Amino acid sequence: MTMGKGGVGKTTVASAIAVELAHRGHRVHLSTTDPAAHLVQTMGASVPGLSISRIDPAVETRRYSEQVMSKSAPHLDEQGKALLEEDLRSPCTEEIAVFSAFAETVSRGENEFVVLDTAPTGHTLLLLDAAEAYHRDVSRNQSDLPEAVRRLLPRLRDGAFTRVVLVTLPEATPVHEAARLRDDLVRAGITPFAWVVNQSFSGNGFRDPVLLERGRRELPFIAEVRDRLASRMVVLPWKREPPVGPDRLRELAGSQPVL
Ligand SMILES: Nc1ncnc2c1ncn2[C@@H]1O[C@H](COP(=O)(O)OP(=O)(O)OP(=O)(O)O)[C@@H](O)[C@H]1O
Ligand SMILES: [Mg+2]
Repeated sequence: MTMGKGGVGKTTVASAIAVELAHRGHRVHLSTTDPAAHLVQTMGASVPGLSISRIDPAVETRRYSEQVMSKSAPHLDEQGKALLEEDLRSPCTEEIAVFSAFAETVSRGENEFVVLDTAPTGHTLLLLDAAEAYHRDVSRNQSDLPEAVRRLLPRLRDGAFTRVVLVTLPEATPVHEAARLRDDLVRAGITPFAWVVNQSFSGNGFRDPVLLERGRRELPFIAEVRDRLASRMVVLPWKREPPVGPDRLRELAGSQPVL
């Protein structure tokens, strides 16, 4: 799973990981909550062994509401049905529906590599887990809860099953925001596997004095990630050609780390 603030390169890094795994002969599923078009654009072409899907909140909410209605409606009178319909229109329904879809996607990881572009934050995971626990308690009915949802948090906490990659940029604010994301994940019992510091100018490939200076200014932030935040880190260079399409994504995945 890739996580990080807006625009830092989550979709790019997730796509690069997926392409590289597929190239090594693995079956890979890449899933996103971004607009699907963006992932398709980043990927650029179909890759053998790699499938792509999107968790679309509107679609998931409709599916979830229909499921709940068809299960409960036979046992309800007209007023009960109307109440349930109203209940399903609350914003929580979308969150629970997306959470369930996310859990289903994660469960595919039993059979293939699943690369998730932009996972929910630790805060969201804990909140929704609490909501589900409450629901379970109120309904006193374990069987109500899909297996994938029941097993989601244990799977995410299992370092042998899930690896969270935190993506950030070598600048003050992005690094500090990523550090907060990490604390939030740790509170949910999930330790990030690695950090990717993306779009760095600190490598050897630059001659322009402005870019060289910019690269120098990155160094304290890169050091902070390396020394204080990450147990594994890779620094990826800024690429003049946007890293889109399987070839450039693989090139990015195989970049000599900057440091
Ligand atoms: N190493 C890089 N060098 C140059 N451009 C990059 C690099 N990594 C990402 N980009 C470009 O930066 C932009 C943002 O990247 P991307 O879409 O992967 O970020 P994101 O974190 O998924 O954004 P969002 O939060 O909007 O989903 C894209 O245009 C992408 O092609
Ligand atoms: Mg994205």
